[in-house]
Amino acid sequence: MQAGLLPARSVRDRLLALPKIEPLIEAANAGGHKGLLDENLLDKLLSEIKKKPKISEPIARTIAPIEKPKPKPAPRMHQLDHYRLDDFPIHAKDVDAEITVHFDITGNSVTEGKKEDIRSCFNDRLKQIRRLILDKNLPNRPIGVDEAIRYRKRYNNRDDAFTIIGLVNEPRTTKNGHLIFSLEDSSGQVTCLLSQRDEEDENQTIVHAGLMDDDAIGVSGYFSQTGDIIYVEDIHFPPLTQHNKRRSSEDQAVSAAFISDLHLGSKTFLEPQWHKMIRWFHDDPLAKTIRYLVISGDGVDGVGIYPGQDKELNIPDLFNQYSRLGTMLQELPDWVEVLLLPGNHDAVRPAEPQPALDPELQTDYNNTLFVGNPCDFSLNGVRVLSYHGVSIMDFVSSLRTVTFDTPEAAMRAMIDRRHLAPSWGGKTPLSPEPEDRLVIAEVPDIFVTGHVHGHHIETYKGVNLVHSSTWQDQTDYQRMLGFQPKPCILTVVNLHTHAMAAIPFV
Ligand SMILES: [Fe+2]
Ligand SMILES: [Fe+2]
Repeated sequence: MQAGLLPARSVRDRLLALPKIEPLIEAANAGGHKGLLDENLLDKLLSEIKKKPKISEPIARTIAPIEKPKPKPAPRMHQLDHYRLDDFPIHAKDVDAEITVHFDITGNSVTEGKKEDIRSCFNDRLKQIRRLILDKNLPNRPIGVDEAIRYRKRYNNRDDAFTIIGLVNEPRTTKNGHLIFSLEDSSGQVTCLLSQRDEEDENQTIVHAGLMDDDAIGVSGYFSQTGDIIYVEDIHFPPLTQHNKRRSSEDQAVSAAFISDLHLGSKTFLEPQWHKMIRWFHDDPLAKTIRYLVISGDGVDGVGIYPGQDKELNIPDLFNQYSRLGTMLQELPDWVEVLLLPGNHDAVRPAEPQPALDPELQTDYNNTLFVGNPCDFSLNGVRVLSYHGVSIMDFVSSLRTVTFDTPEAAMRAMIDRRHLAPSWGGKTPLSPEPEDRLVIAEVPDIFVTGHVHGHHIETYKGVNLVHSSTWQDQTDYQRMLGFQPKPCILTVVNLHTHAMAAIPFV
């Protein structure tokens, strides 16, 4: 009746047998059918319903499987053939730990968050990276943006190219695939265009990848005839061809191990796999070489980090999460020194650089050094840069060459531009320290990040890149995004030979 339909007696039983009448009414309304509902019309409406997607069902059903996913096995990248135990003449417990911290913001944050601090931070970034770019063989001595603009009539053909160094603003790609951005130094700002060409060179790699907001770069080029745009011939990042890694001496041939993102306190923390690793630490000969364990942030899941998190926690109290983490780390053999950084789930300010955990959270820990994020330190002479990696999200959204499945591409981009988190106002909260401490002033021997819950090891331009593995299973949020983490892989690096190994505990 509601749909203006009068059911014939012949369809009565079939109507009563339907689980729900509403879809039929909807179909009748949609098709404009009124009057007698006989067998023919009922057949027609039922076939309409079958064709229609079930919009009343949760949308998630159509994009993600409803049954519990069976995680694919994590890739097993042992690479143990070149990670020989013979390279470790001594047990790690017989080698003195030598940890030198070169940079940690803990107790050294001086910003008041004022405009003046932001200006100083960017000026300092430009100054530091400019100095690095000047080490490159530039085609000509860089001039200020104001000078380039003043003499734009003179600099308007390829034979009179000039070079400027500045910060990138609003990089974007034109409809024709060219890269356009403005470049700013303390004297002025100018629009630059790098054309897309059918060539394969470093410039075209940049056109394809894009640039990050607030990247500090050099540009060589010349002005258009109208003088309002620079046609870019070359973009200059700081030079790095092949880094020569420092090594620990032969009598200190120990290894360092790397993990991050344990997310302890979350229901998805993989506790059995953790115990498996602890057993391995006590039993395996390779583990006897491990002098350090670096945990690059998100040791605990935290509290109130995202809406509805309380439902996903099995340790709802923050102090209990840290206390449990401390107890779990005490299960490691006593020759393992732990370095613990905070991440975005930890109970410290989110703005980077982040200080170390508060002393009141450090009470249940043995053999643990609490440092900030990022932290630049040496282990028996080998320089390590550890950064939790929140800015990887900005790299994913700015560069076409980076995805969540390839955080190593973000790490290469960080090394290339010598900066951990260039973009102000993106997804990474930044603390505007008057000196920009997120510049990678010193090329590390080992560069490690986490946060994305993937896993990867490679050597890039001589730097060992480690994207350390998580100890958290796939979360509902990751399942919705179709993201498959690579959990429970311990990365081990021999500090003398720089051989790397990945040990899975899945
Ligand atoms: Fe994490
Ligand atoms: Fe994180």
